[in-house]
Amino acid sequence: MQRLNGKETAHQIRKELQEKVSTRKEMGKKTPHLAAVLVGSDGGSLSYVTAKVKACEEIGFDSTLIRFDSDVSEDTLLNQVTKLNDDPNIDGFIVQLPLPKHINETKVTDTISPNKDVDGFHPMNLGNMMLNLPGFLPATPAGIIELMRRYKIETSGKHCVIIGRSNIVGTPLSMMLSRNTNPGNCTVTLAHSRTKNLKELCLQADILIAAIGKPDFVTSEMVKDGAVIIDVGTTRVEDTSRERGWRLVGDVNFKEVAPKSSFITPVPGGVGPMTIASLMINTLKAMELNGK
Ligand code: GUN
Repeated sequence: MQRLNGKETAHQIRKELQEKVSTRKEMGKKTPHLAAVLVGSDGGSLSYVTAKVKACEEIGFDSTLIRFDSDVSEDTLLNQVTKLNDDPNIDGFIVQLPLPKHINETKVTDTISPNKDVDGFHPMNLGNMMLNLPGFLPATPAGIIELMRRYKIETSGKHCVIIGRSNIVGTPLSMMLSRNTNPGNCTVTLAHSRTKNLKELCLQADILIAAIGKPDFVTSEMVKDGAVIIDVGTTRVEDTSRERGWRLVGDVNFKEVAPKSSFITPVPGGVGPMTIASLMINTLKAMELNGK
């Protein structure tokens, strides 16, 4: 069993980006600038956004965090998105999801300029991804693929079972892994809450990816010997033994599953840091694409 160390890989990617940015700065070129919009004060969202801002600082990107109370109106939020679209100093921005129920997430995502949509959530970018045309790839799937690429994991011809069909992870990842690219060329099964015989399906997986947000959902009897395991889950569960009162738990029961796997991502320190690294890659790309 080998751990897929997302923390270390993301650190390496940040170092590579830092070098690119400092070369650009020496040439008198613009510093990439990422903005993040956060609505409300959900602990998980706040820590993700804080980590994104911190990654910018480490690499040498400029960053701006824009916060709204959870009762902000949809109009105010849409106006903010339009302002960011029009601001030549901002190269890319994200609106952290989920948004409060009174705000239409689709409307917000659709309002983001596709050229600044570094999360890759806009229909134009998702469409380009489907057609294998240039655009921004969603950060978590792109991070998983980059992790596989750097660890030279063989994907061609493999059966990949993805549990979870979210717009952010499962659905785009199913397309990206089935494309004729490397990593890619998988035969993908996208499983979800209505899937029958999930255990039997998972047992057929050469690569098993869990993205459902259910702590310890994948157990050892669902895993084939030698499978590659990717855990996208990050649920906060109460832990009074820790000062902060919680710990992050993945969708995979790591203790049980790790000995059966060939490669496995830990939680934390697996997929999470790779998502942030992908966002940084997309931000630099946004600036270059926009000719700056
Ligand atoms: N919520 C969970 N993951 C993400 C992400 O990658 N981007 C944004 N904007 N919101 C998220």
